[in-house]
Amino acid sequence: MEFNKIAVIGAGTMGMGIAWALGAAGKKVVLYDIKQEIVDTTLARIAKGLAKAEEKGQAPAGAKDFITGNIAGTAVMEDLKDVDLVIETAVENMAIKKDIYGKLDAILAPEVIIATNTSSLSITEIAAITKRADKVIGMHFFNPAMVMALIEVIPALQTSQETIDAIMELSKAIGKKPVLVKEGPGFVVNRILTPGMNEAAFILYEGLASAEDIDKAMKLGAGWPMGPFTLADMVGLDIASAVLNTLYTETGDPKYRPAPIIKQLVRAGWLGRKTGRGFFDYSKK
Ligand code: 3HC
Repeated sequence: MEFNKIAVIGAGTMGMGIAWALGAAGKKVVLYDIKQEIVDTTLARIAKGLAKAEEKGQAPAGAKDFITGNIAGTAVMEDLKDVDLVIETAVENMAIKKDIYGKLDAILAPEVIIATNTSSLSITEIAAITKRADKVIGMHFFNPAMVMALIEVIPALQTSQETIDAIMELSKAIGKKPVLVKEGPGFVVNRILTPGMNEAAFILYEGLASAEDIDKAMKLGAGWPMGPFTLADMVGLDIASAVLNTLYTETGDPKYRPAPIIKQLVRAGWLGRKTGRGFFDYSKK
């Protein structure tokens, strides 16, 4: 199955990175969000990020023009009617997903696959709200999606083998390394990584070391590319918190309960880099 024109729903952090990764692989992308100004801000962020990456030698010369030329933006869902794949990265809220999937079902051709990048909701439940349950699948990218090689491919209970094969193939075709994972809370990476960030937050809460020193310890002692708090701030504390709540409620295991400091930061709206403040302050950087 060839996918040439791909819609990315949601122009947040993940939508941005996924659109960038697809555009870099030569796919035509339509980035959708509910407001044109959100889409425009993200398109500008991609262009700025690419200019910086070119400057630093992290992207080849000409990458900015090539990639931005492959990505269009819209706030009109009907504009997605001729895409041959949808990757959905909307907020982790089932009511909002239900609304989006209802509209998509009506607009898209019946054979179009919808891949969800959800990291905390049930893909089987998402599939069940559509009229194309066999064509719904998890395609879980990692932040920053234009850099990280892994894609977890997670079939719902209803997903057909044809859909699984198509998404595994596409993941390789865009230069990523897919790993097929059965559905379970947190899949593989978040099941391991998010409790790690949570444990760091408990250690901070207990006053064993400062956030800076905990980060330093995990970088120098465990070879993590970034410390747990820098990572949590990059992922977004709302996302980390949603993953922890899913792990906790789905398993009933208290070891996954979110650390109080994470709940408090989320309640304050200090969600990490995207809001300028999380465990660390980014307002002056
Ligand atoms: N192309 C474009 N931009 C690049 C790039 C590339 N090849 N490589 C790095 N960059 C960007 C980074 O995004 C960053 O952007 P910023 O300036 O806006 O902060 C900047 O360049 C800095 O990068 P560096 O030059 O310092 O590159 P590093 O060598 O430090 O690598 C990193 C950055 C790849 C993010 C590395 O630190 C890393 O691997 N960190 C761990 C990331 C991780 O664990 N991600 C998974 C999170 S879990 C998740 O996403 C799941 C979800 O469901 C919660």
